[in-house]
Amino acid sequence: MSRYDTDYSKMRFATRAIKSGEGPDPVTKALNTPIYETSTYGYETAEQYDEMLARGAKWEPDLYIYSRTTNPTTNALEKKVMALEGAEDAVICSCGMAAISNALLSNLNAGDHVICSDDTFMCTSSLFADILPAKGIETCRVEVLNVENIEKAMKPNTKVVYLEALSNPQLKLADLPAIAEIAHKHGCKFIVDNTFLSPVVMRPLKWGADIVVHSGTKYYVGHGDALCGIVAGSKKDIDRVRYYYDNFGSHIAPYDSWLALRSVRTMPLRVRKQSENAMALARWFETRPEVDFVTYPGLESHHQHELATRIFEDGLYGGMLCVHLKGGYEEMCRFADATRIPPIATSLGDVVTLMFPKSAYNNLIRISTGCEDVQDLIDDFTQAFDQYNRK
Ligand SMILES: Cc1ncc(COP(=O)(O)O)c(C=O)c1O
Repeated sequence: MSRYDTDYSKMRFATRAIKSGEGPDPVTKALNTPIYETSTYGYETAEQYDEMLARGAKWEPDLYIYSRTTNPTTNALEKKVMALEGAEDAVICSCGMAAISNALLSNLNAGDHVICSDDTFMCTSSLFADILPAKGIETCRVEVLNVENIEKAMKPNTKVVYLEALSNPQLKLADLPAIAEIAHKHGCKFIVDNTFLSPVVMRPLKWGADIVVHSGTKYYVGHGDALCGIVAGSKKDIDRVRYYYDNFGSHIAPYDSWLALRSVRTMPLRVRKQSENAMALARWFETRPEVDFVTYPGLESHHQHELATRIFEDGLYGGMLCVHLKGGYEEMCRFADATRIPPIATSLGDVVTLMFPKSAYNNLIRISTGCEDVQDLIDDFTQAFDQYNRK
């Protein structure tokens, strides 16, 4: 056995993030996975090609015919994701919305019913409000913090329960073990978007989800330079997702796969620092007289703090917090405009702290903490409050 055939899947998370899915290139021995910028793959004989087509139709792993379907750079990333999510299989898509669409559409047909939580990312909300109903799929939105609402919403044609583990933007934490039990009792698939936490903080498959999806653009990529979507679960479920993804053309470009692959190696380091920064900032904002309330699952004041402590890994609570200032729109703008380190921008999970003032959500300020020195962030927010109070 080659030293490079070592099974890293039994090793610890940080080791898996670095080692899984990668090894020297079989031809050149290049240690870093190359960017395979090729659309197609050449075979020796017609017979060999026919055999590959037949095996490819069964989604046999490590087999390459055309890069819409599979690509070696993306395949390395799939294997890394499997190792981190504790999944049998994974598909990498062009972005988070492609991952969500494929996960949902591969499990829902016209006449089916799907239950979704009431707080989700804007485009996910559009899927449930317009796009799925227009295709004959019945949808309903429920407040999942009371799990009885899910039981009550069940119908004979309910096929899927879908939610964001930590919701965007209100940071509500769903009780995954309890919801998984209800979903499975009714024969439903349980699909969880874990974008806001990342597998460093929580792994939904461990708590009963059938399929986990991510906007990999966020914590997986972590540097704000590539779009990426992740779907992971059992081989049976993922084979079905792959069929849809292949026919919809939802693949990621090899270069973006490579950027993600490079980034995942440092995800445990980044998310630990982002979590520490978020905890320090959440506690600091709580002491400020200008602040009405702070939402962060690491704070004892968060309604699901105990649940978070139970299902999150390594005492981490993630890098997402929300701050609500006393006052309204004007106060939110005055404070945000006075800061100097965090750009005012959408997205999250980057090494740079990002601030998203949300007038549509009662003037909530969503902060995605980066990896800066937290004292510089506190100094910046302090000077922003000084300016804010001078007006
Ligand atoms: C929770 C969540 N899911 C999915 C998405 C969509 O991801 P993408 O922008 O990669 O398509 C986002 C984007 O912000 C998100 O916040």
